[in-house]
Amino acid sequence: MKNIILADKAGYCFGVKRAMNIAREELELKQNIEIYSLGPLIHNKQAVKKYEDKGLKIIDNIDEIKQSSDLELIIRSHGVSKEIYDKAEKMGVELVDTTCPFVKKIHDIVSESERENHEIILLGDRNHPEVIGINGWCNNKANIFKTIDDVKMYNFDNKKSYIVVSQTTMNEENFENIIEYLKKLNLNLTIKNTICSATSVRQQSARELSSKVDVVIVIGGKHSSNTQKLVNICGEIVDTYSIETKNDLEGIDLNKYNTIGITAGASTPDWIIEECIQYLESKYN
Ligand code: F3S
Repeated sequence: MKNIILADKAGYCFGVKRAMNIAREELELKQNIEIYSLGPLIHNKQAVKKYEDKGLKIIDNIDEIKQSSDLELIIRSHGVSKEIYDKAEKMGVELVDTTCPFVKKIHDIVSESERENHEIILLGDRNHPEVIGINGWCNNKANIFKTIDDVKMYNFDNKKSYIVVSQTTMNEENFENIIEYLKKLNLNLTIKNTICSATSVRQQSARELSSKVDVVIVIGGKHSSNTQKLVNICGEIVDTYSIETKNDLEGIDLNKYNTIGITAGASTPDWIIEECIQYLESKYN
């Protein structure tokens, strides 16, 4: 008999849940029109496949849309640049905007800051869609840095005023280190900590779980960075396995463990978590 414990905070964050609900409603209510999404809705193959089965078409570029009527384009929770909204309007394409309100808030900050001639420092990964989208709300003028070493290589100007924002999923420690460094430069600096607490709350919950179990199973996409971060955090404390679905559990022998912890990335749907728990209960209890 094994004890299976689910982390207090695991799975879909508020923004992803909201986006997935909106997209599902659109697909169910509007079966007579084409519904596209700009990129996969989330980093979870199985959840995305369910939506594709309902008719969702995933495109990488708005230019792939050849007609303008009888269709909708879903903007995912990461958000996109202003250029996409402008293009859609020109093309007459109706948008269903599921941008997470926390990301939208960053769009508003950088857009206003750019209008007021502030220099924008955007902390995050320049290749991440959220960061590309944010940069697109300040005419792609943001200075984007991922690490403190990137920041150290940049020549700041004491005569300018800087505003700092970050990718919502940025590591809090990395953010604090960079801010500490920037403060020492005596710049005219306004700091907006735009890290979303959903990430740190999930990480803290995973840490607490790891300290009270014999093994942790982290459920989530192999390409989901927040899932892989959970794998690293748990792996530093206890034996940890990274899986995408219950099928991956079949190859893992958990017999030597008494207490099994479960956590999941912010883009892992509840039904995958439940399937895994049911599988473990039927195999070991
Ligand atoms: Fe939004 Fe935070 Fe999730 S920014 S998409 S609630 S991680």
